[in-house]
Amino acid sequence: MKKKVIIDCDPGIDDFLALLLALNSEELEVLGITIVGGNVDLNTCGENALKALELTNSLHIPIYLGNDKPLYKKLEKAENVHGADGLGNTNLPKVKNGVLNYGAEDFIIETLHNNEKVSIIALAPLTNIAKAIMKDKSAFENLNEFVSMGGTFKECGNCTPVSEFNYYVDPHAADYVLKNLGKKVHIIGLDVTNKTVLTPNMVEFIRMIDGKLSKVVSEITKFYGEFYWRFDKIIGSVINDPLAVGYFIDKSICKGFSTYTEICKEGIAEGMCIVDKNNLWQKEHNSIILTEVDAEKFLKKFINLLLKDKEEEVEKYIGLLF
Ligand code: RIB
Ligand code: CA
Repeated sequence: MKKKVIIDCDPGIDDFLALLLALNSEELEVLGITIVGGNVDLNTCGENALKALELTNSLHIPIYLGNDKPLYKKLEKAENVHGADGLGNTNLPKVKNGVLNYGAEDFIIETLHNNEKVSIIALAPLTNIAKAIMKDKSAFENLNEFVSMGGTFKECGNCTPVSEFNYYVDPHAADYVLKNLGKKVHIIGLDVTNKTVLTPNMVEFIRMIDGKLSKVVSEITKFYGEFYWRFDKIIGSVINDPLAVGYFIDKSICKGFSTYTEICKEGIAEGMCIVDKNNLWQKEHNSIILTEVDAEKFLKKFINLLLKDKEEEVEKYIGLLF
């Protein structure tokens, strides 16, 4: 049985790669994609999601635009990381006759009410999810699993010394979801994503194998890799969002612990995950913090799925990379 999922995202280079991964996976049935303003503005994110659908012959899957800004804060975008077009300034052609619906929250609510065992993979600020819970909390009683790329436990932040972009952009939404979802949030934070680097060697391998997606992957990761060299002297790009999809597909990829987490909503630690690992507050656990990752296992899965049309060659040569 395929796992039914809604993907909430702000494409963004790593969201785009995560969508390619999910849409190429035999294990997932993507019921719809919801969009939130984040890395770039809402409409640009929507147009980029359409490009991922077109590239994977998945334009039958609906896209719903949601919130263009956080619950209370002004939207702080990340064009320095993802480019003005959200895809590394590659300016890929707009999808002709692509449809962007409105009403992300209503789509999430209706889908949860009308289907069994639907999960959500959230790859962006959690504004859409928070607003959907505010609108109809009962819909989430049907929710199967919730995986969120966001936050950080022991790793330094990527927005402030202590906070990660998704939870920094909308700390109120992240905190609200943790306190009102009614299910544990599987938090795929920087502790694990920083260990999944798509190296130039891997990108070159993807280019050499020359699959249908190879060109776009090598084009959009160029800008991303230049950012990571400037930001942290990393050679390659940290692919945050795809790990959340990889973990949802195969939970053995990451390990962590159950705990109570809330998000600091203001002040110097705005967006920080307050993780009560030692259970000092004796509160009901609302999260699973992932702290370890089998990076090789994930990256092999990621490359295999990106090059799904070249399965035999990948099988034959992927050993050159690891
Ligand atoms: O901190 C990384 C996260 O913020 C990723 O989801 C990236 O796409 C940005 O949204
Ligand atoms: Ca994202």
